[in-house]
Amino acid sequence: MGKLVRFGVSLDQDLLEKFDRLIREKNYTNRSEAFRDLIREDLVKAEWKKNKEIVGAITLIYNHHKRELVNKLMDIQHDFGGIIISSQHIHLDHNNCLEIIAVKGSSEHAQKLADSLKSVKGVRHGTLSMSTTGKDI
Ligand code: NI
Repeated sequence: MGKLVRFGVSLDQDLLEKFDRLIREKNYTNRSEAFRDLIREDLVKAEWKKNKEIVGAITLIYNHHKRELVNKLMDIQHDFGGIIISSQHIHLDHNNCLEIIAVKGSSEHAQKLADSLKSVKGVRHGTLSMSTTGKDI
């Protein structure tokens, strides 16, 4: 981490009051930490847009009884083996499974993998949560 720098920010009073309300709801103890998080959030989004290396998690909810579904999901994951660093399978109930797939690679690849998995018939819900490798923020 670099040296700490202080700077002033001019804000409309209404906007500042809304910001203070929001950060109280989010349990921030001070404005500085909330500002830092907002800036980091934007830096991470910029990394995704530049197709930089990201880390992320794909979650899938599916009914494992659906014909061929599990095989299709496996095939896709083998095709994208290079960016999958780990996966976890949880049996939610008699029918439903939760799969969590950790990925590390370009944001474009991660998005393609998530889209391929989500579009398989029988997948009830899928999400991709992208984060940063932490190297550049
Ligand atoms: Ni299962």
